[in-house]
Amino acid sequence: MEQLRVISGSANRSLAEEVAERLNVKLTPTEIKRFADGEIYVRILESIRGADVFVIQPTSSDANLNLMELLITIDALKRSSPQRITAIVPYYGYCRQDRKNKPREPISAKLVAKLLEAAGVNRVITFDLHVAQVQGFFDIHSDNLDLVPLYVEHILSKKLENIIFVAPDVGGTSRARAVAKIMHAPIAIIDKRRSEDTNKPIIENLIGDVKGKICIMVDDIIDTAGTITEAASLLKRKGAKEVYVYATHAVLSGNAIEKLENSEIKEIIFTNTIEIPKGKQIKKMKVISIAPFLAETIKRVHEGIPMGVVYENMYKKIEKTMKKC
Ligand code: R5P
Repeated sequence: MEQLRVISGSANRSLAEEVAERLNVKLTPTEIKRFADGEIYVRILESIRGADVFVIQPTSSDANLNLMELLITIDALKRSSPQRITAIVPYYGYCRQDRKNKPREPISAKLVAKLLEAAGVNRVITFDLHVAQVQGFFDIHSDNLDLVPLYVEHILSKKLENIIFVAPDVGGTSRARAVAKIMHAPIAIIDKRRSEDTNKPIIENLIGDVKGKICIMVDDIIDTAGTITEAASLLKRKGAKEVYVYATHAVLSGNAIEKLENSEIKEIIFTNTIEIPKGKQIKKMKVISIAPFLAETIKRVHEGIPMGVVYENMYKKIEKTMKKC
C-alpha cells in the first residue's frame, strides 16, 4: 500500500498535529512563506512520490489567504508525483454563498469546488457543510462528515432533563431534527430573516413551546454571533430555563466573543474545525476535538474501507447509554 502522508497548512496546525499523533505518523514538513508583495510560497520538504497524501487546511479567516495557500499547496503536491491527494477542509469558506438569491450574484461555493479540482485534488473531505448540497459542486469524490453522534455523546454526558432542540433558523431545522430524533426529544424552530440594509438577523417568532425547558440550539456556523445570541434572548423571553449551543465552526468575527459573553447562553460548545485563538476563549466555551474522528476517517480512506461502520458503532454506543439513562 502507498505510504500515508499528512500535511498541515498554516490555518489549523494544532488539529493536524493531533490527527498525525493519532495516526502515528509525523507531519510531512513544508516551507510556507509570504513574499514582500503578499504572494504565498509553499514547498514540500520531503519526497512524497507515490504517497497517499492528506492535506489539512480549513479555509477560515483569512478565507482568501487560507484558500490560496491550500490551492498552492495542492499544486506543489501535484508536481511531486503522489499517488493521490485528499484535501481535508474542516471548515469550507464561502459555503454560505451556495445559490443565487439575487440576479447577477456569484455561486462562490461552487467556484471554490472548481478551484480545488483545477488545482489537482483527487478527493475532498469536509465537516458539517452549511448545506449538504454543496457536495454536488464537486465532480470528484467528496465526503461531508456529520458530527451529530459527537454532539449526542456530549449532550448525554451532561445528563440534562426536559430538553428541547432548537433550530436558530428554518435552514437549520434538519440539523436540529437529526439530533432530536436520536435523543427522542422535541424541536422548536426560530423564524429568522435578515435586514435588507444591515444584513443583521431579525428574530421575532418561535414555532414550538420552550417554557421551563432546557433549550439546545444546534448550528453550523457562529460568525458575528448575531443569530445565536438574538435567538437565545428570544428563547429566554419565551420562558426557557437554560440555553445551550452546539456549533461546529467557530468563525467568530468582529465582536462575536463579547456578544457571546454577554448573552443568555449558558454554555457554548464548538469543535476545532477552526482553531480558536487563546484571546477568543471564554469560560462558557468548550471545544470538542474532531481529531479522533478525522484520524479514523483518514485511516479508512487510506485503507479503502467504509466509514459507515464507525457511525454504526457510535450510534450503538449512544443507544446503550440512552437505555441506561
Ligand atoms: C445561517 O444560515 C447559518 O447557519 C448561521 O446561523 C449563520 O451563518 C451565523 O451567522 P452569524 O453568527 O453572523 O449570525
